[in-house]
Amino acid sequence: MQNVHAGMKNPILKLPLLLLKPFFLSLFLSLAVLFFLALQTPRHRNPKLSPGLRIRPGYSSYDSYIQHQLNKTLNPKLRKIWTTRDWDRKVLVFSQFFRGLKERKLLFNDSKALCIGARVGQEVEALRRVGVGDSVGMDLVPYPPLVLKGDFHSQPFDDETFDFEFSNVFDHALHPWKFVREIERTLRAGGICVLHVALSRRADKYSANDLYSVAPLVELFRKSDLVGVRNVDGFGLDTEVVFRKKEKEKKN
Ligand SMILES: *[C@@H]1O[C@H](CO)[C@@H](O)[C@H](O)[C@H]1NC(C)=O
Ligand SMILES: *[C@@H]1O[C@H](CO)[C@@H](O)[C@H](O)[C@H]1NC(C)=O
Repeated sequence: MQNVHAGMKNPILKLPLLLLKPFFLSLFLSLAVLFFLALQTPRHRNPKLSPGLRIRPGYSSYDSYIQHQLNKTLNPKLRKIWTTRDWDRKVLVFSQFFRGLKERKLLFNDSKALCIGARVGQEVEALRRVGVGDSVGMDLVPYPPLVLKGDFHSQPFDDETFDFEFSNVFDHALHPWKFVREIERTLRAGGICVLHVALSRRADKYSANDLYSVAPLVELFRKSDLVGVRNVDGFGLDTEVVFRKKEKEKKN
């Protein structure tokens, strides 16, 4: 009797196994394909980005991106132009612009101010000329005494250091969410951030992202309120966007 039973069990067991084999095979293949696709996705693509902001592809690593940025910043011909032919004109335009911000009560003589991506520091010179004495710039290449060395993706400053931050290099940010996170980290509560951006035209080949509207900025500045947007004529940049970092929520 036992032999008969054993003989009958085998074909019953074999049938589901035969069905499971293709099932496991296809499961394995789909996982392999998914894994391959995940590897192909650029590491810097952030799913949270809204459609109005596009990261330019083409950087194989963060280091190659930094090297590319340094190429422009260190270009001796450009540096010569920035510190000579360009200097007076740009300092003048920046001074007028900062005076306007003072009139609008967004900037004060005693504001501690940072200019992000300041190259040779024309905007820092302008800030000092309009009376904002405690101001400094930051860029990958320092230009003492106006500009300190620092990467805007990871600012070399403590939390809540500044009352005011200005930048016209948002388009150079490979990780815009880090660019904004660092501004919101180093600004004091109530502090002001002013960005000059290009919405209607594409910036140069050193740009790392393209911005098509203000909406993605509003999304990124999660700890701030939008204060205002207006058109400006800022050396190829057409739009000024102003944010104010929110006051801290009271903890109980
Ligand atoms: C930097 O510029 C030099 C000369 O202009 C060029 O040969 C080199 O490929 C550039 N490097 C990068 C990383 O763009
Ligand atoms: C701010 O500084 C400017 C330039 O030094 C000066 O003319 C002005 O009186 C100062 N304003 C205030 C409110 O102290």
